[in-house]
Amino acid sequence: MKIKSTARMLGVATVALLALTGCTAADAPKEVGAAEEVEIRLSLNQTEQHPNFLALTSFADEVRDKTDGRIDIQIFPNAVLGAQQETVQMVGSGTVGAASISGTQMNNLNKDFAVLDMPLVFDNEEHQMKTINDPAITGELFTSLESSNNLTIIGAYTQGARSVYNSERAVETPADLNGLKVRVQESEMHISMLTAMGGSPSPMSFGEVYTALQSGVIDGAENNSVSYVTEHHYEVAPYFSYTRHLIGADFLVLNSKVFNDLSDADQEIVRAAFLNSVTEFMSIWDAQSAEAVKTAEEAGSTFNEVDPDAFRSVLEPLVDGVLDSDAKRALYDAIRAAA
Ligand code: GCU
Repeated sequence: MKIKSTARMLGVATVALLALTGCTAADAPKEVGAAEEVEIRLSLNQTEQHPNFLALTSFADEVRDKTDGRIDIQIFPNAVLGAQQETVQMVGSGTVGAASISGTQMNNLNKDFAVLDMPLVFDNEEHQMKTINDPAITGELFTSLESSNNLTIIGAYTQGARSVYNSERAVETPADLNGLKVRVQESEMHISMLTAMGGSPSPMSFGEVYTALQSGVIDGAENNSVSYVTEHHYEVAPYFSYTRHLIGADFLVLNSKVFNDLSDADQEIVRAAFLNSVTEFMSIWDAQSAEAVKTAEEAGSTFNEVDPDAFRSVLEPLVDGVLDSDAKRALYDAIRAAA
């Protein structure tokens, strides 16, 4: 009894210590009972008001409840653990257990992800959520980074349709973006996309955008209306133009060793809890998207429709360029078949 409880205490101490490092009990020498308890730090670059934080909190709560507290996922919002480009590396190395990562960064690791992060692939958020979380369509892609990068993808939330906004003028055609420096997410695809749309792309991390807009280092950015408001970009870039050039996604990425060390039953709990959280995410997303427009308009922002055909014609060649392999073409076809 004494030996058992000492081993148990050692296990708890190990978990507490590893929680500080972001590693898990699974990485530790196997003490009695130690491997059963896992604390996972999850890095997020959004605020506590953002739908990602709210839905990931429900996901973590369900996992904690269903495992009687054995799997404890702690969410660190506001990019306190780092920007996505760094945190995805930290998840791979095990310094952080999990992170919410934009498709753009996934595309930097495996070009096939570009199919899920390019214009004109998804008709709307419903089409995207139905296909992106379907193992028959994305199952192989979601495990493709396990041996190379030690990353397992559990699923994705939508980023909604992304549009451009700036401090200078309403944009209706690609010509209106001429001469405007617009922040893009850090990838070749996004640089090419914004160039094709007529602007001058300026890649930088999400957390730097507000100050860059405020100081005039950039004139604009592109994102959904929710981030436009949660990041306060509307205060410094009041012209929001509905280019809807891309429906992006945020992926829940776990360290593969952390995930594979869970029992089959626990892996299933994690997967099911994530899928349940997608439903909740979507209702929060819809409510906040509408609310965001109201908030920004009340503060003086204007929202305008653009010439959709003019943007479509400059984006189409980009899509053809992305689909340069059989694997990407097959993924694209499977998604389009479910449109
Ligand atoms: C959205 C998305 C984030 C991403 C951000 C960006 O807000 O949800 O994951 O980092 O766009 O533009 O960088």
